[in-house]
Amino acid sequence: MRNTRVAGRWAVGATACAWLAAAGPACADGRGAALASISSPGNVLTVELTIELGRPSYRVLRFGEELIGRSRLGFDLRGARPLDHGFELERQTSHSVDETWEQPWGERRYVRNHYTELAARFTETSGERRFYEVVFRVYDDGVGFRYEIPAQPALADVVIDDELTEFAVVPVATAWWVPAGQPDAPNDLEILIHKSPLAELGTAHTPLTILTERGVHVAIHEAALVDYAAMRLARVDGQLLRAALAPDAAGWKVRRTTPFTTPWRTMQIADSAGQLYGSDLILNLNEPNKVGDVSWVRPGKFIGIWWDLHLENWSWAAGPRHGATTEHAKRYIDFAAKNGFSGVLVEGWNLGWEGEWFGHGESFSFTRPYPDFDLAAVAAYARAKGVHLIGHHETGGGVGHYEEELGAALDLYQRLGVDTVKTGYVAAARGITHTDAEGRVQLEWHDGQYMANHYLRVVTEAAKRHISIDSHEPIKDTGLRRTYPNWLTREGARGMEYNAWGQPVNPPEHETNLVFTRMLAGPFDFTPGIFALERTRACCRVKSTLAKQLALYVVLYSPLQMAADRIESYEANPAPFQFIKDVPTDWSETLVLNGEIGEYVTIVRRDRRSDDWYLGSISNEQGRLLAVSLGFLEPGRRYNAQIYRDGPHARWDTAPTDIEIEQREVGSSDTLPLRLAAGGGAAIRFVALPRAPGAARPR
Ligand code: NOJ
Repeated sequence: MRNTRVAGRWAVGATACAWLAAAGPACADGRGAALASISSPGNVLTVELTIELGRPSYRVLRFGEELIGRSRLGFDLRGARPLDHGFELERQTSHSVDETWEQPWGERRYVRNHYTELAARFTETSGERRFYEVVFRVYDDGVGFRYEIPAQPALADVVIDDELTEFAVVPVATAWWVPAGQPDAPNDLEILIHKSPLAELGTAHTPLTILTERGVHVAIHEAALVDYAAMRLARVDGQLLRAALAPDAAGWKVRRTTPFTTPWRTMQIADSAGQLYGSDLILNLNEPNKVGDVSWVRPGKFIGIWWDLHLENWSWAAGPRHGATTEHAKRYIDFAAKNGFSGVLVEGWNLGWEGEWFGHGESFSFTRPYPDFDLAAVAAYARAKGVHLIGHHETGGGVGHYEEELGAALDLYQRLGVDTVKTGYVAAARGITHTDAEGRVQLEWHDGQYMANHYLRVVTEAAKRHISIDSHEPIKDTGLRRTYPNWLTREGARGMEYNAWGQPVNPPEHETNLVFTRMLAGPFDFTPGIFALERTRACCRVKSTLAKQLALYVVLYSPLQMAADRIESYEANPAPFQFIKDVPTDWSETLVLNGEIGEYVTIVRRDRRSDDWYLGSISNEQGRLLAVSLGFLEPGRRYNAQIYRDGPHARWDTAPTDIEIEQREVGSSDTLPLRLAAGGGAAIRFVALPRAPGAARPR
């Protein structure tokens, strides 16, 4: 056993514990004493490993105070003894890394990956002496760890019935969470975000965001979910949470052949909500790009035959109100070309939308269009105008059927120059269908191992054809965009469409919740930009002001953003529409200037292709006055600030479209007051003016 020097500190090895054992029983099997420990580069977080009565566990300290108390590690296996007791720490190694890598697209161009790593091997003290490793990466703003199960005779074909990983949150905390495992939910990631004491949590999806009574913000999630079931979190007792893997129709949670690694279990930890959002932990724990040259992956903005479908003005199915006609599509292409949009989405172009397609995807064809939609002609028309069609594959959850057609469907799009496809999996939770080898129909959750593999299969098959994917009703995001940069964006929470359907519409705090929960996972195709906010359908409205709709383009990051409203709404409101035309979707820097979960947030981002900055600020149902320092702008440089803000009478419920637009010159030493109405927001474009003669470019 060796003790290893890590970032200027000595980690205590098992030999030290053996020596301590002579002093009394406390350390005889590691009880009470750390067998190994490692601290983050800036000595903010410390992870300690212990073995108590042969059971390996970890805990996390922040500035020396216990944040995550002793929490078990291990697995329940089918046909074998649980992999959780009877272990000793056989060896440990550690090292530190400080590197910077570049994203092809994203919230920021350069990402620093700075951590210390501790790899611990636990081996059974008797019997078959099975063993596994746990690798911890400790950052100043969080911790990730994963299990690595090496190949060995007694662990070859591994069936995991349960993962036993625990998170014992010590300080009393409040949680923001989405209930998981609700079979009746259309897609249970789309349930409104709950807020409750952590001690009242049920079973939750991740990211699960918690705020301790001392003001520490923590998000528990996972990174690099590959060939494994998604980790939900079940509350066992008090504030003790345990991994609850999504089940597989085959009756187990996960089946793998060794060697294999699990996804990373992650805890992002910060003093403020803004710092939590600023963490790059999830991306850092994913593997680098495996696709190779991705210059063909293009962020952008799109419009489409979409909102009229959700308003029930048009239909996906054939008939007098069919939306996806050649004529409608050409009109949208003309509008896109005129206003600088790169894409046009057409939903309902393919056969099979008649009747109840929700959960019954077997009737869809992914290659044959309706007679009133000339797919080849529309694609050629778009190409001639410099616009790309965005393809659409709604599966209705019929994943077995979709997989049979997938190759031909993607080939067709490739031939037509369709380089982005929006996929859909509208089906009840545990309503995904496929047929097994014996011809039996199997029902899967959207987030079990079977579907984790399916979503990635679609992404890798698309990459072979230089096609990017925008998954709706997806599996949650775990940062795989780093490894597969053509997985551009996804849904994975309650989007704009609920404001057309009701059941109920999204409350004004929804987006301020999203930033510090769902958005910690990655980009969201939320589809903002609704201008006709009142009476979307008879039941419904959008609980937002117009200025807030603009702000969402900055606040809710997606490399692919939709201008979701109908063309008519934009033609009627050219002045606010200008912001949607201007705002980019790819950034070189992102900063959160202020924010509280569910209350308000202000985010600024710098355009990847110019020196311009953009600001989005949103509030919940409460109006508020914020003062924003412009210190993020380049010192000494002047900017033309184009400000879109709530008008004096604006409120989401009585005057949502009251908006004021003004321009003024500003610099980095200025402070701007932002008056956000109830359910309101502000959006600002800062156009960089030419530098003064002789002024130095900042490095
Ligand atoms: C649900 C998606 O979120 C929505 O955007 C799409 O229009 C429908 N499914 C139909 O595919």
